[in-house]
Amino acid sequence: MSEGAAKNEEKPSKFQAIRGTRDLLPPETALWNRVEQTAHEIFATFGFGEIRIPIFEQTDLFARSIGLDTDVVSKEMYTFEDRDETSVSLRPEATASVCRAYIEHGMQQLPQPVKLYYMGPMFRRERPQKGRYRQFYQIGAEVLGGSDAPAIDAEVIEMVMTFFDRLELQGVQLDINSIGCRECRPKYVELLRAELLRVKDKLGPDSQRRIETNPLRVLDSKLESEQGIIATLPHIADHLCEACATHYSAVKHQLEMRGILFRENWRLVRGLDYYMRTTFEITAQGLGSQNAVCGGGRYDGLVELLGGPPTKGIGFAIGEDRLILSLQESGKAPAQQGRDVYIAWMGERAHATAIRAAKDLRKAGFSVELPAVEQKFGKALGQADKLGAKHALILGDNEVSEGLWTLKTLADGSQQKLTEPQLLDFLRKL
Ligand code: HAM
Repeated sequence: MSEGAAKNEEKPSKFQAIRGTRDLLPPETALWNRVEQTAHEIFATFGFGEIRIPIFEQTDLFARSIGLDTDVVSKEMYTFEDRDETSVSLRPEATASVCRAYIEHGMQQLPQPVKLYYMGPMFRRERPQKGRYRQFYQIGAEVLGGSDAPAIDAEVIEMVMTFFDRLELQGVQLDINSIGCRECRPKYVELLRAELLRVKDKLGPDSQRRIETNPLRVLDSKLESEQGIIATLPHIADHLCEACATHYSAVKHQLEMRGILFRENWRLVRGLDYYMRTTFEITAQGLGSQNAVCGGGRYDGLVELLGGPPTKGIGFAIGEDRLILSLQESGKAPAQQGRDVYIAWMGERAHATAIRAAKDLRKAGFSVELPAVEQKFGKALGQADKLGAKHALILGDNEVSEGLWTLKTLADGSQQKLTEPQLLDFLRKL
């Protein structure tokens, strides 16, 4: 090919992250790490152990757990046929997988309840917007087995609230509800359906469809024109069976004993089919319309539905992307990832000393930037400043032969000469 022809050739096209997915970059990833580290610490104090589950599973696992008529299963899953023709899906959530793992590993043989937590990406093909992505991250926890004691519901909620408190998340609001059980919910759903049919004409197309498929989801509607009608609908709390009503009031009592503030929200039904009795959602500030940072609830019977023994279950999942957004909006995010020391060196001997100094400082836990090529000191100091370094260690031939190193504090420009042990001492004391 002639040179001219090569020049005319088109530049290779660039790639972009797929819509609804994104790269998380420094310094923001430092905040992600802090959040995750805090979750590991707090959850451990409540006796939870980490479980890591696969990113994809058999499609049927999600279909059977979450429900065929839910938005998640009917519209939002990334499903494909594997080479052996099994249908697999990227996980849209993790509760189903944790239940599958509980059964698969015979965890009912362990001391009950089994308390597990997880973190990682989930996938739902939703319309992307602020706080809503197609690949998003959850931090979740599940309590499986043992009893359905209301104290378990309350302790799980206490754990999330403790976590949010530790992170100083602002404007935290906990909403709770009970959506009854197999005994009482179907009767309420029928009542609701009958009431909705009477006002069908005044509802939008989505709600009209849901009268048939899932009347409870009408209560979720955000449509302005439907709010007046929804306000007149019967409340599930007035139609719970005795066992569910007793359980619900005990959960509230248990929350009060723990000093946890909550608001009862009779419209909180949640969008996944496996829930029964306690449901809850937590919102935080700075998130706009996608303001739920955590959703959860009780799902007794799900393990059984997946072929396991009768098992109680309750859990939650936090939307980590939204949690991070809210922390950033309230100024809780660390700014730039600074360096403790930038080593400005000139000359071969100084380079050798700089390499050794970097090793010692890093060993002592300081973050060090060691430029790979020689720079004039003026340029090096400019670079140190741009990187947000706290100090510049200046190593030239003089410093090396005298054994006295110059340390410049960039915030105030002050400078001092220190021996190597003095330098470590000085930095440690800061
Ligand atoms: P979920 O309400 O579907 O529940 O999701 C929990 C949280 O994940 C939401 O409150 C939200 O913060 C976040 N989230 C959901 N979808 C997106 C998205 N497209 N973009 C960003 N964040 C999102 C569950 O997933 C249940 N598995 C929770 C659970 C665990 N219930 C019992 N155990």
